[in-house]
Amino acid sequence: MTLNMKFDAVAFDAAAARARAAEEAGRPRTLVVFAGKELAMADAAKALLAGASEQITRAAAAARFKGKAGSALEILAPAGIAASRLLLVGVATGGDEADAAKPEAAAKSDEFLSLGGQTAARLGQAGEAVVIFDLPERPADPAAGAGQFALGGWLRAYKFDQYKTKKKDDSEREGPVEVLIGVSDPAASSVAIDEAGHLAEAVVLARTLVNEPANVLSPAEFARRASELMKLGVEVEILDEKMMAELGMRALLGVGQGSEAESKLVVLRWNGDGDAAPVAFVGKGVVFDTGGISIKPAASMEDMKGDMAGAAAVTGALHAIAARKAKANVIGVLGLVENMPDGRAQRPGDIVKSMSGQTIEVINTDAEGRLVLADALTYVIDKYKPAAVVDLATLTGAILVALGQEYGGLFSNNDELSERLTKAGVSTGEKLWRFPMGPAYDKLIDSKFADMKNTGGRHAGSITAAQFLQRFVGKTPWAHLDIAGTGMGSPSSDINQSWGSGWGVRLLDRLVRDNYEA
Ligand code: BES
Ligand code: MN
Ligand code: ZN
Repeated sequence: MTLNMKFDAVAFDAAAARARAAEEAGRPRTLVVFAGKELAMADAAKALLAGASEQITRAAAAARFKGKAGSALEILAPAGIAASRLLLVGVATGGDEADAAKPEAAAKSDEFLSLGGQTAARLGQAGEAVVIFDLPERPADPAAGAGQFALGGWLRAYKFDQYKTKKKDDSEREGPVEVLIGVSDPAASSVAIDEAGHLAEAVVLARTLVNEPANVLSPAEFARRASELMKLGVEVEILDEKMMAELGMRALLGVGQGSEAESKLVVLRWNGDGDAAPVAFVGKGVVFDTGGISIKPAASMEDMKGDMAGAAAVTGALHAIAARKAKANVIGVLGLVENMPDGRAQRPGDIVKSMSGQTIEVINTDAEGRLVLADALTYVIDKYKPAAVVDLATLTGAILVALGQEYGGLFSNNDELSERLTKAGVSTGEKLWRFPMGPAYDKLIDSKFADMKNTGGRHAGSITAAQFLQRFVGKTPWAHLDIAGTGMGSPSSDINQSWGSGWGVRLLDRLVRDNYEA
């Protein structure tokens, strides 16, 4: 997957010199500088704009630009400076109470990510740009800030348009927008930008998997794309239906049994820390969810091509972790199936035996994700004895009712793991909200005919789904993230304009970075 922008870091004066040289050679550039409250600027920016200060003051007054974060001022063909276009991007946050309540570090990293996204949006396809990455209030770690800025730009510039055959707007240029970032510390910034590039590729990989239609992205095609992580040193194993049957994965296999496409279980292994117990990520990968015999209504059923967003996030996370050669052992398991109605499809009332030995009465064939995850969880816990397991799944519509699209739902049997995830959520902006669990909820999935049933009735739908999963994890520290609200159909933001958001990739990468690296 190629990224739509190219970022390079050089020292402030080199950036300024390159802007001047390009301009003199007749290659127009956009010069980007940051402006705070009342147009406050940092020294590097002020020096560059000295020749145009009068024009800037007048333009800002005319446009009522005051440096507010989220706003920008564009001046075309400014006199007295070496750029054809000057873009002042506002960074003043105004210090309202919501900001003050945020932990300092988190607020900052968020801020540069958004700033990168906003800048990329303003640049559009306009060609080359020079960004003077100097802020009125110097951040504690400017190099990390430059990395986040580039990451925000890349994520904003991502578009899923390979199925549009019509020629694009003539004004759009071919190839990536090239951005030269002037910084105080080019060596450290270059490292941060390279790392951000790996993370951007990982998020973009997950987004594309979510956006792909199900006639293209079958379980086999998903498995093939995940196998490409081998190039980064990830060990890849693909279990087919025969192998899964031998393991007794009847819960997972029952879901795929009405589909022409063969179900697959993909195991991705990154070994960066000798023989330490691994952390495991398990993703729901229902490439299309019709509901099966308990078929869904037609309205918006097309969205169910995204019912593999959990598996996509796990794939992206392993990409990120391997690309930066993390000193950690991480396992990703993808349960890949298609849920279709058919003469051979599973029926309501069917009883299946899971790999764990526990039996399940399938009340509703549309509660299929938990059936897939049950066997995937058993497999990874039995085989790898992980120190912690986190599963990600577009599991319930009920989580959208509870949280909307702002937070992912967090369910766990372990306070420490919950806190680690919540913290990673705050620092990446992929926020989590923890739900209660307990025996009273667990009772709701007891079955008359089997050990349990796969639905718990109308109340607390996201919690009963989590209780179901908990029956397959034993004492292993486990967390379940219900991402039905955040993984797809995402509202546009500074850093995402795509239907598939790639939600969870940055979160899992951050979780590993902060807690599981040697
Ligand atoms: N994939 C759906 C959940 C979903 C809904 C994801 C909306 C994204 C957007 C899941 O398989 C499902 O159908 N869940 C049912 C469970 C019910 C039958 C107990 C649901 O939420 O209605
Ligand atoms: Mn379903
Ligand atoms: Zn589903």
